[in-house]
Amino acid sequence: MSDALQFHLEHTCGQARAGMITTRRGSIPTPVFMPVGTQATVKALSPLELEEAGASIILGNTYHLYLRPGHELIRRFGGLHRFMAWDRPILTDSGGFQVFSLGDLRTISEEGVEFRSHLDGSRHFIGPEQAMDIQEALGSDIMMAFDECPPSTADYQYVQRSLQLTTRWAERCLQAWRQRDRQALFGIIQGGLYQDLRLQSLTQLMELDFPGYAIGGLSVGEPPCQMYEVIENLAPHMPADRPRYLMGVGTPVDLVEAVARGVDMFDCVMPTRNARNGTLFTSTGKLNIKNARYADDHEPVDARCECYTCRTFSRGYLRHLYRTGEILGLRLNSLHNIHYYINLMQQIRGAILENRFDVLRDSVLDIYK
Ligand code: GUN
Ligand code: ZN
Repeated sequence: MSDALQFHLEHTCGQARAGMITTRRGSIPTPVFMPVGTQATVKALSPLELEEAGASIILGNTYHLYLRPGHELIRRFGGLHRFMAWDRPILTDSGGFQVFSLGDLRTISEEGVEFRSHLDGSRHFIGPEQAMDIQEALGSDIMMAFDECPPSTADYQYVQRSLQLTTRWAERCLQAWRQRDRQALFGIIQGGLYQDLRLQSLTQLMELDFPGYAIGGLSVGEPPCQMYEVIENLAPHMPADRPRYLMGVGTPVDLVEAVARGVDMFDCVMPTRNARNGTLFTSTGKLNIKNARYADDHEPVDARCECYTCRTFSRGYLRHLYRTGEILGLRLNSLHNIHYYINLMQQIRGAILENRFDVLRDSVLDIYK
């Protein structure tokens, strides 16, 4: 499979899978949610807090860290783990997706992507070789291949040419992948909402034999049911002995629906970003801490949650912190939401192992739909 990563499928319940990823920096029970640490920090949270919340792996971003502080600087600090003092596994995205979000600031060619920095307008180029070089400097445990994520409005012909370019880039990533005993490399399936193109992309990538496969290009504005359909049709064709990663997804409902269709790994800014605007996830649904109804509410955010925020503080106090713009409010809200997401995944994993995933799935759908 790969010297850097092993995957063991432990149990299935329908299409839902419970497994274990093993890396040199630790094991990752799956299904797993990876908190997003774009700028070498999961916003508002310390590594200790992440560890206490049960995070087994976090995500970092090639594009942002390449621009600032620069991957060569991070290399001199001994890599991203040492730089940010997180010693568990890290997955880095390749930069493709972030560069493509720049709109007219970029030009795509066979070689790669030329773009202007969103920070100072300076010119840069990232292709497959550069993406691998940067991720090698960062020293992540799982690297992502450099891909093109076409816009949701792209037509069939564009998406087909784009996925073929993504395959050629994936081949170049494999060629440029050096630290095979330290870093795993995942391929990224594209193909938009076209089922035959998704299968074409998967088939081409499977011939290249990656240690793991990601589904990219989803949650880019399409209705959730279309995303679920793509996953449902794709997953049965994916190798059962490799981890499956759905990139940039999603809501609690998205997580249970994707797990139900065979996905193992997720990342999303939703828990941390929502926390910072006062939206909290609870066992009874979403709660907006800004709401006036919480002003004199002495109850915790979620009486069933065991996080520090819920063990210690009232809704009324958190509302006050939010309204006064206090930093502590952002921290306590983030801590709770990350705890909720990680706990949800642990519940899901437990339910799969005990053949009661369908019941849990229905309860999450009940609460959040
Ligand atoms: N994050 C969310 N979607 C994508 C994608 O399609 N490609 C990459 N590289 N990252 C993503
Ligand atoms: Zn809590």
